[in-house]
Amino acid sequence: MNVFTLKDFSVDEINQILDEAEEFKAGKKVDFKGQKVVANLFFEPSTRTHYSFDKAAFNLGCRTQNFEAANSSVQKGESLYDTVKFFESIGCDAVVIRHPKENYYNDLVGRISIPVVSGGDGTGNHPSQSLLDLMTIREEFGHFEGLKIVIVGDIVHSRVAHSNYEIMKRLGMEVYTSGPKQFEEPGYNYVDFDKILPEVDIVMLLRVQHERHHELMRLTTEQYHDMFGLNQKRVDKMKKGAIIMHPAPFNRNVEIADDIVECSKSRIFKQMTNGVYVRMALLNRVLSND
Ligand code: CP
Repeated sequence: MNVFTLKDFSVDEINQILDEAEEFKAGKKVDFKGQKVVANLFFEPSTRTHYSFDKAAFNLGCRTQNFEAANSSVQKGESLYDTVKFFESIGCDAVVIRHPKENYYNDLVGRISIPVVSGGDGTGNHPSQSLLDLMTIREEFGHFEGLKIVIVGDIVHSRVAHSNYEIMKRLGMEVYTSGPKQFEEPGYNYVDFDKILPEVDIVMLLRVQHERHHELMRLTTEQYHDMFGLNQKRVDKMKKGAIIMHPAPFNRNVEIADDIVECSKSRIFKQMTNGVYVRMALLNRVLSND
């Protein structure tokens, strides 16, 4: 089985993955005793996704191979398919792939016999990030139905926003978006950030993804922070019990003020912790099904 997008998973399956992630967090052990090898193929920079998949594989008793495109035969023109076929040929049992091309996995479907788990495809989807976000939300509130979230920032370039918007609506959450006009995703549920802020249970901030822009951001970073940045003044308007999330990496003092990153409402580092457990659940699922 493959993990490309959460659209391929039913709500029941999503909850099963989250259940197992919680079990891993509570101490459940699975040990492949070094008999399974997971190759982490990152064609784009990553800290959290790459190294938490690596830690997840380690926790499951798997060995890993960590490939970085910049020091590989990709530089000689080797294709994604030929690269993945190599890791399959040398006996890897699963590959985790992050790639800048949206839907990169269409080049692999039906041609690779080992499981492929996406670590993010361009501006498309980021399934393991959504799962760790969902785990963090479920731990906090115990349910999804009826929760209100506002996702703020560079939505159109964000695979995190695209994944979360779809699955959170399917789970019965009220999903709102806000951010600069330049980065609006057509058809999404746009609202005034300051108006919705006191009503939401979750404020999810996104990084401005300069590396994906075809034109410069029209706002200065100061203007951005003033209009959409989460600072103490805005935190004071959040309702009691509401939380702050961010997939990270974050730009301090742009989308989030420096002193808010680790404030009592922030769950940003808990999200990172949970990332290991949801990735353990995903790897266990694909390695047990092959
Ligand atoms: N959140 C996330 O995907 O972070 P990385 O780019 O560091 O993997």
